[in-house]
Amino acid sequence: MGQMAKKGLIIAIDGPSAAGKSTVGKILARRYHYTYIDTGAMYRALALKAMQAGIAEDDEVSLTDLLHRNTISLQNVFGEGKQGKEGGGHLRILWNSEDVTSMIRTQQVGMMASKISALPGVRLAMVEIQRQIGRQGAVVMDGRDIGSFVFPEADKKFFLDASLEERARRRFEELRQKGMEVSFQEVMADLAARDRNDQSRQLAPLVKSEDAIVIDSTHRGIEEVVEIMVREIGI
Ligand code: DC
Repeated sequence: MGQMAKKGLIIAIDGPSAAGKSTVGKILARRYHYTYIDTGAMYRALALKAMQAGIAEDDEVSLTDLLHRNTISLQNVFGEGKQGKEGGGHLRILWNSEDVTSMIRTQQVGMMASKISALPGVRLAMVEIQRQIGRQGAVVMDGRDIGSFVFPEADKKFFLDASLEERARRRFEELRQKGMEVSFQEVMADLAARDRNDQSRQLAPLVKSEDAIVIDSTHRGIEEVVEIMVREIGI
């Protein structure tokens, strides 16, 4: 953290795909006037651009180079007074000046993101960017390795979990609402494969930090999860 005075807390939210991290992360960020950082979206943006450039998923040198030569930025766009899933507003993902927000949410990009994020060169470069963005505090950062690796000194660490079936149900609904043609079985198989990738990689795998507060959202609504977190954060 260095000697720099922090502007606010660093709140880490880790957990498997589709556990609801980004939904609650945005709501918390809005509540505290913090910046919300979706680190998965950063890996997805790189994955999208690698796919467009025809770079192979194991070409660590080209992938790391692609990341170094370009800029990923996140813009928080807070909606006005809406409740529920969009209650925290939304996030715009920029690759240089190109808005890639809607292009990064496909299954293919998610799977590519999971694969390239396992390459140490890619991860270390991305983690460096995330530390730059978050080190001043006043951030809610969601991902897989935030409390365990990116910011082990985070002020609050949450691990948001849910059963595979429930996560698949939520992701299926989300993709269907966006007009994507997917089957429930396909979505569940994709999540299971990503869980395996994310948990088994060598560097900074998805793990529950010992000091993380574990919340199971399988049978809890968004408001209830947020309420638990706010109580734990204590501000
Ligand atoms: O959260 P998400 O589904 O948008 O993330 C996409 C992929 O990126 C996910 O399968 C694993 C990877 N990821 C990661 O390895 N570390 C992070 N901090 C965030 C995401």
